[in-house]
Amino acid sequence: MTRQNWLLTTAASALLLTACGGKEDAADTDKKAAAYTKADDPNVHPEIWPKGQSPVERDEAIEERVAEILAGMTLEQKVGQVIQGDIGATTPDDVAKYHLGSVLNGGNSAPKGDLRISPTEWLALADEFWDASVGPDGDGIPAIWGTDAVHGHSNIIGATIFPHNIGLGAANDPELIRRIGEVTALEIAVTGLDWTFAPTVATPRDDRWGRTYEGYSEGPEIVGAYAAEMVKGLQGEAGTDEFLGPDKVISTVKHFLGDGGTKDGIDQGETIATEEELRDIHAAGYIPAINAGVQSAMASYSSWNGRKMHGNKSLLSDVLVDQLGFDGFVVGDWNGHGQIKDCVPTDCLQSIMAGLDMYMAPDSWRGLYESTLGYAKSGDLPMDRLDEAVSRILRVKLTAGVWEKGRPSTRPLAGQWELLGAPEHRAVAREAVRKSLVLLKNDGTLPISPGANVLVTGAGANDMNMQTGGWTISWQGTGNAREDFPNADTIWEGIEATVNASGGTATLSEDGSYETAPDVAIVVFGETPYAEFQGDRPHVDFMDNAGLNALTSYQEAGIPAVAVFISGRPLYVNPELNASNAFLAAWLPGSEGGGVADVLFTDAAGNTRYDFTGRLSYSWPKRPDQAVLNVGDADYDPLFAYGTGLSYGDDGNLEELPTDYVVAGGGSDIVFDEGSSGDWRMSVVTAYSPPVQVEDVTAETQDGALRLSRIDREAQEDSLVLDWSGAAEASFIVSGGPVDWSRQANGELALQVDYRLDEPLSGPISLGMGCGEDCGADFTLPGTDSVGEWQSATIRLSCFGDAGLDLTAIDRPLVLTSAADNKLSMSFAGLATSPGGTACPE
Ligand code: BGC
Ligand code: BGC
Repeated sequence: MTRQNWLLTTAASALLLTACGGKEDAADTDKKAAAYTKADDPNVHPEIWPKGQSPVERDEAIEERVAEILAGMTLEQKVGQVIQGDIGATTPDDVAKYHLGSVLNGGNSAPKGDLRISPTEWLALADEFWDASVGPDGDGIPAIWGTDAVHGHSNIIGATIFPHNIGLGAANDPELIRRIGEVTALEIAVTGLDWTFAPTVATPRDDRWGRTYEGYSEGPEIVGAYAAEMVKGLQGEAGTDEFLGPDKVISTVKHFLGDGGTKDGIDQGETIATEEELRDIHAAGYIPAINAGVQSAMASYSSWNGRKMHGNKSLLSDVLVDQLGFDGFVVGDWNGHGQIKDCVPTDCLQSIMAGLDMYMAPDSWRGLYESTLGYAKSGDLPMDRLDEAVSRILRVKLTAGVWEKGRPSTRPLAGQWELLGAPEHRAVAREAVRKSLVLLKNDGTLPISPGANVLVTGAGANDMNMQTGGWTISWQGTGNAREDFPNADTIWEGIEATVNASGGTATLSEDGSYETAPDVAIVVFGETPYAEFQGDRPHVDFMDNAGLNALTSYQEAGIPAVAVFISGRPLYVNPELNASNAFLAAWLPGSEGGGVADVLFTDAAGNTRYDFTGRLSYSWPKRPDQAVLNVGDADYDPLFAYGTGLSYGDDGNLEELPTDYVVAGGGSDIVFDEGSSGDWRMSVVTAYSPPVQVEDVTAETQDGALRLSRIDREAQEDSLVLDWSGAAEASFIVSGGPVDWSRQANGELALQVDYRLDEPLSGPISLGMGCGEDCGADFTLPGTDSVGEWQSATIRLSCFGDAGLDLTAIDRPLVLTSAADNKLSMSFAGLATSPGGTACPE
């Protein structure tokens, strides 16, 4: 039955019921009618979308089994089938009891709650969920397990980690994408999981978005060309024997639709676009993926012209299914249904009415199960619609041969641990790294002879976190150690191996210093890892000066310097470009840092081993305010246009670039670090004297109530000393913006202050935040009972919100106030993940 049919049928049966004087009262009919109308979007015109067709042919045997299984299901089993829980909040017993159709591991979930647990435990848990779902008699419906294998099987210790999609976009090599999909599927199969939430086929248009790196390109062409290949790599070619075979997994295109178009690059935000733009720019990946037989699609958190996608029937059903020919099932995003008006994570009829077939209800599944069951019993959720959702899920499970594949550990590839990070897989990833590098400047310093004396420095040189980025072992990709990557090379390790093999000398210098001047210095620096909204930023100015300082020091010493820039998006780096002899964008290369050395160094005879072939799949800004910069723009004015990339032999020197741009003050979620407040302003003030802006290493209020100076914690003058005399109430204030941190507050982020109390407390110190005149909230600074020790104080943003801070308009992200004679040193302030479960202080 197609979607239009079930709508007609239910409308018709409601009419019939009323005509025959059926029990259904007016209020019930209204509720149902409301759920339908809310789900419709009058701005959608399915006829302007291309008519597509999945290549997965309807198989009569499968259709019969779907009907047969469905006929034997209880209402409870049907409702359970359309709900997915997270393994952090769902046990195998829960799956058995509530008949859940699926589980997932969110970015911070893993078996036994241990992100570093061995892959054997993943397979063991997959068996447990299998056993629980099929039951002791083996007649239940197997639950499938979905995971964010978004750049390789990236939650698993030892797996091959591929470059994030932004780097793959620069490689512009669809055939390579297919091989990456094949390797990823195979490694997933080793752990017994069934399904990946990949590929992301967003077309990111505003590089402030923290998920920019998850998209292949700002341009629809590359996204379109890649989507089909990745789906084929993961699932196999539809219509052939390899399709969803033992070494394949179910693939997901996400996030439908318009996730890459949100205003100001705000995650989960609002995409304001015409229907044509939605189709031509944002749907570029869906059409080819459907034509390649993709079996699931994830609804987007974002809205289109004011409507949340999780409740948009016109797009989820009329366009995606009926018009584009998608024949799999639609899964929701993490409690995404709960964001619809009048919905909460545990209760949302509107999503399933709109065409969502499986709710992603990580921790809310139990309440959602109860409420949905209630709707099914009352008829508010028409049986036809529930049956349709269940049938779609069953059809995908049958098409994927989940029953035949059997208990996870009995599958042919299961437990072949040597395949995780196997040399031949890593070789594909290393090839991807080489092809993803984009050379933006070269005065002839590159390539380097491996016989040279090479100094390597910079925060990213020997750091797996930076080179792998978000969605790696942990959700944000932070907190991982070198040992968490048994099958990997850092960029430094790759350089060291290359140079050592050719008789040169390579030195890793943490602080950049040297005894003998090197022939060349390689500075590896860039963004630190982030995922989702935590990576959203107010502008595209890179801001962090550590790399620049190193490059400048070599430049001043006459040492040629090569900048290797790690980032999840193009950023304004004119100063770094000026200070380097060669500059390359390395994106987020993943586990195979060795791919960088492959291209930078010649062989011993001086011949190029691999040339640069990467070309920008995102336009590069010449100013920090060029966040929305896309090829085809009317006033397109990039520093490096889409498609740019030098090869050896090109004349790649650059003129001195202008650097006198100032970004609007404030906005970064780092408020103070390494001695600087970045684009925020610092001042000291008392109730009776005007603010004094901090422009130097010291500052003082006019009445001397607060004196500011500097000390060294880890680097020269990297910390502030706040010395209150007790003469009057005085504050140290960081201001700028205003910024909207409401989303961050939702994500449980906290304001963190790293400080040391230098003298025993002689009166309270408060930690506050402000939101314009007479608006703000403060708490007593936690931890002031310990003296002389560095410590981190964290208070969740939501606590400030509850205490009256307007989280949407923060203009003073940090205010430290005291009226007493106190002294403290501070090395860091900014947003950070809060330790789980911390209560709000008094
Ligand atoms: C993300 C999805 C992801 C899901 C499960 C969501 O927050 O938006 O991309 O697949 O979580 O981790
Ligand atoms: C992410 C999950 C993650 C969770 C952590 C979600 O938004 O999608 O993957 O584990 O947040 O709270």
